Amino acid sequence: MKRNIGYEQVVSGQSNRGEIPSLHEAFAKDFPIGAAVSPAILDSTGSLIARHYNSLTAENDMKPIELQPEENVFTFEKADQIVRFAKEHNMRLRGHTLVWHNQTPDWMFEGQNGEPADRELLLARMKLHIDTVVGRYRGDVYCWDVVNEAIQDKEENLLRQSRWLELAGEEYIQKAFEYAHAADPNALLFYNDYHETVPTKREKIYKLVKDLLDRGTPIHGIGLQAHWNIYEPSIEDIRIAIERYASLGLQLHITELDLPMFGNDDKRREVMTPTEEMIEKQAKQYEQIFELFRSYKDVITNVTFWGAADDYTWLDYFPGKERKTWPFLFNDQHEPKPCFWGVVAK
Ligand code: GLA
Repeated sequence: MKRNIGYEQVVSGQSNRGEIPSLHEAFAKDFPIGAAVSPAILDSTGSLIARHYNSLTAENDMKPIELQPEENVFTFEKADQIVRFAKEHNMRLRGHTLVWHNQTPDWMFEGQNGEPADRELLLARMKLHIDTVVGRYRGDVYCWDVVNEAIQDKEENLLRQSRWLELAGEEYIQKAFEYAHAADPNALLFYNDYHETVPTKREKIYKLVKDLLDRGTPIHGIGLQAHWNIYEPSIEDIRIAIERYASLGLQLHITELDLPMFGNDDKRREVMTPTEEMIEKQAKQYEQIFELFRSYKDVITNVTFWGAADDYTWLDYFPGKERKTWPFLFNDQHEPKPCFWGVVAK
């Protein structure tokens, strides 16, 4: 297949090439291709998802606040709907996420009278949550993002100053992996984080995971969230991060890929349709990124987008930055964009 992107495609997102190939089938020899979803998205976008993706992640519905909003009150309905869809369509399912500083209910960190929970109570609650959730989806969920975003971004500290750290100490991370492994010894267990190609953060992630491995923690992979954009990071920086993490001998999953059409410092709000230049830049960036991923298919064992098509993405609702961002391979009408053709072309 040729890689040229005709202007008519740029404008309409259409192709003259006849039948649209399935995205995940184009990567059948490489890695599963995933999408983050909710039951509502499965209703509105299910046929696109069933055809083009063969792995799912719950965008929100397996997070602690959704699964255990009150102590010992577990609400599995929405997560179960996603599990059912995955089974019906023979898809893999990534579990996301067990221990995080965000979207976790306050009661988890509080004692009877609202005072901070002590270490023992907090770890007992963590264990109960992990046992219940991982146990319920044993055999359905093949890997878990056990701990999400535990690292401090800028400061000197390795770890984020979260309530987990404050109340349970740094050992909470290792404990989470041990509890998850006990609850499902067959599940692959991941540490997942963002800004994973930025050198300072990259080295912190490397250090955290290396320390866990040195202590014999059951951890099998690193999740690279990959909330990038059409300008950065550079392919070289992505390659360096892949090499560095892979040197630990672990699997890598790309867990939350999206390439919005605005750079980090682009404050424009008036762009209501993507320009030709943005569309072409996105196509080029996606093409190079997937070429790189494919060349590391021995270590990259899942590539998941944080959504399915441009009509819904969390990025469009980012507080203070609300605007259309068009980050995926499919447009608002669920048709393939120029970036889709660049990615499936071999
Ligand atoms: C992080 C989390 C995801 C999601 C995104 C934003 O990347 O890991 O679960 O909340 O932020 O939507």
